[in-house]
Amino acid sequence: MFETFAAAPPDAILGLTEAFKKDPNPQKVNLGVGIYKDAQGKTPILQSVKRAEERILATETTKNYWPIDGTPEYAAAVQALLFGADHEIISSGRGVTVQAPGGTGALRVAADFIAKLMPGKTVWLSDPTWPNHPSIFRAANLPVAVYPYFDAVNNRVNFSTMLVALQQIPEGDVLLLHACCHNPTGGDLTVAQWRQVSEVVAARKLLPLMDYAYQGFANGLREDSAGLLEICQPGREVLVASSFSKNFGLYNERVGALTLVASSDAAAQVSLSHLKQVIRANFSSPPAHGAAIVTTILNDPELRTLWEGEVTEMRERINNMRHLFVETLNEKGVERDFSFIAQQAGMFSFSGLNPDQVKALRDKHAVYIVGSGRISVAGMTEDNMDYLCRAIADVLK
Ligand SMILES: Cc1ncc(COP(=O)(O)O)c(C=O)c1O
Repeated sequence: MFETFAAAPPDAILGLTEAFKKDPNPQKVNLGVGIYKDAQGKTPILQSVKRAEERILATETTKNYWPIDGTPEYAAAVQALLFGADHEIISSGRGVTVQAPGGTGALRVAADFIAKLMPGKTVWLSDPTWPNHPSIFRAANLPVAVYPYFDAVNNRVNFSTMLVALQQIPEGDVLLLHACCHNPTGGDLTVAQWRQVSEVVAARKLLPLMDYAYQGFANGLREDSAGLLEICQPGREVLVASSFSKNFGLYNERVGALTLVASSDAAAQVSLSHLKQVIRANFSSPPAHGAAIVTTILNDPELRTLWEGEVTEMRERINNMRHLFVETLNEKGVERDFSFIAQQAGMFSFSGLNPDQVKALRDKHAVYIVGSGRISVAGMTEDNMDYLCRAIADVLK
């Protein structure tokens, strides 16, 4: 049977990393995949993580299965980080959190839950969005559709068009929103715009699914929840898929969470029973190590302070690179206006480079960028900036 199968296309972004690894050019630059790199171009283990791991190794006594939904300590720590420890969602008990393998796993659990309990509902994605979004929802047999999000000519969120489109979405459908650091554009909503979206969500009775993969990378751990908190008004139902891949640097540990906010604690418990059934049929129970690290750090004042400092350092480095990139392009005599890149948030920006320019950067200069022109700012360093900007100036000539 296998002889008859045609090959599936390789993952566009991870395939780029493979090609990058094989490139012998010593000056090669990878602005493809969204992985944080430090000033030396490395993705190190955070110190807070190393210290938590030492403690876990010294004290753990069993490798017994974890509960289907993860531990209560993890769930509580996740909710406090998302909403703030004194938020009404926590005191009322109308939020339940299940552990999932990364943000991707959380989105897939959400997708299976929606398919099971809300059949026929469409999931609305921003245009453009993270390429894995449509794949995840389609894999769960959910219909997907898109709403306009970005004005690629003026490099900013096309908010008025977006809002009109949201008002046309059928009642009860699912609206996926990037809580901060929109991937791939880097364009986020202002708090006032979030408020307007929140009003449409209520008026159209939409179910918001917040994809929160970059908490701490835009303006700060607390600040980045501003949009989420606008959506989580009293009585509202919300799903939040969150990830600790980026802000704890725990990419390969696969640690994330799905939080379901219901209008009452009783409804939340009923939904939890379904989430557990979805997980049992999917991966049965979650991996322990990454979640143990996160729980240890968030609950220990000393490790938490260390971690918060490390998140600040990552955020500030990326923001510094955004500014240095714009300055260095100017120095190289590039006339096109790239100043929007310094205003955007998170690891990504749409550079506006076209497919021919992206190809020329790779073939002539060993600079690797996704075909859409999305660049991962986290791949820039003070050392590669001059080479990178000279290469861009060359292909724009
Ligand atoms: C928008 C968005 N959502 C979710 C994820 C999932 O991350 P992970 O599954 O690695 O935790 C990512 C990772 O790149 C992302 O960019």
